[in-house]
Amino acid sequence: DKGNHRHFMQKEIYEQPVVVAQTLSSYLRTLEARVALPDMEFDLGSVERVAIVACGTASYVGAIGKYWIEQLARVPVEVDVASEFRYREPVLGPNTLGLVISQSGETADTLAALRHMKACGVTTAGIINVPTSSMAREVDLLLPTHAGPEIGVASTKAFTCQLAVMAALSANLARAKGRLEAAEEARLVRHLTEVPAAMNAALSHDAEIEGMAHTIAGARDVLYLGRGPDYPLALEGALKLKEISYIHAEGYAAGEMKHGPIALIDESVPVIVIAPSGPLFEKTVSNMQEVQARGGKVVLISDAEGLAQAGEGALATIEMPKVHPLIAPLVYAVPVQLLAYHVAVAKGTDVDQPRNLAKSVTVE
Ligand code: M6R
Repeated sequence: DKGNHRHFMQKEIYEQPVVVAQTLSSYLRTLEARVALPDMEFDLGSVERVAIVACGTASYVGAIGKYWIEQLARVPVEVDVASEFRYREPVLGPNTLGLVISQSGETADTLAALRHMKACGVTTAGIINVPTSSMAREVDLLLPTHAGPEIGVASTKAFTCQLAVMAALSANLARAKGRLEAAEEARLVRHLTEVPAAMNAALSHDAEIEGMAHTIAGARDVLYLGRGPDYPLALEGALKLKEISYIHAEGYAAGEMKHGPIALIDESVPVIVIAPSGPLFEKTVSNMQEVQARGGKVVLISDAEGLAQAGEGALATIEMPKVHPLIAPLVYAVPVQLLAYHVAVAKGTDVDQPRNLAKSVTVE
């Protein structure tokens, strides 16, 4: 049931503050200001390496997780799309935690990768939305997301709930490795607790985003730029736009622009810049200015501080609430999803059932 929404995708975007809060509540002990995971039969502190495997949107959760786990826990992480992992003869040493991420828990390549890891004797965990799925049954440690059924082919609420679990896992691993002091853990818990309200604030810009969608809908190509954990979010933004609006889109690490993609820039190319204020902001802004100098039409997504500093000259700006840069991808996902949604609606595509795509990819 779509309720009073026009599409399942729109409904699922709007459900995010509630389902992310639900997911967080099972991984946060707010009173004790601690993060917590379900009981497990292995020692998290013995993990020396994490190998993340997933497909599509779920793989971008893995890529964001790499930034979080390495920064917080100082444990090396590698991320692969499952179709590559399966056939590249990955080196899986002892004390590796194999982590699969999947909404459906049935994606053929991810499931095969999970079975391969298990056959190699690797301890596995899974961030999975469907609790009765094959992957949920086969992982050593199930880390459920509580997004509820996701109907739209374009993943939205599953993505942000996966991120919420990933944040909790990163913090737990950091603590198990003796890298997270109680005060820092309490701060992290507080930042995560603020996410649902921040998502609501992000949703309040819906009408504005709808207003700019018509301009973007006329473009042939769209670029998304981000740095740090917002780089995989740029990839996710581009995927979302491609799959439901059929506009060609690419995500890049902002610093990579001058290594090639800037050649694409002219007045016809909208560039969506995802840049919360924080340590990486200045660098991203200088990449953005290079784009503007070549006529590129920038849509800057940032907070009040960032927009005051760099919003001038942009085609449009979208103001996000101020959040800790580490967890920004959870909140900045909302405008990125809304933009793809409204562009698709403006183009009149089948938003919930885009051409050539299936919700669950159970063939290779
Ligand atoms: O069910 P899964 O999370 O394993 O699915 C993985 C991808 O097929 C999925 O995320 C796909 O990329 C979405 N259509 C993206 O919106």
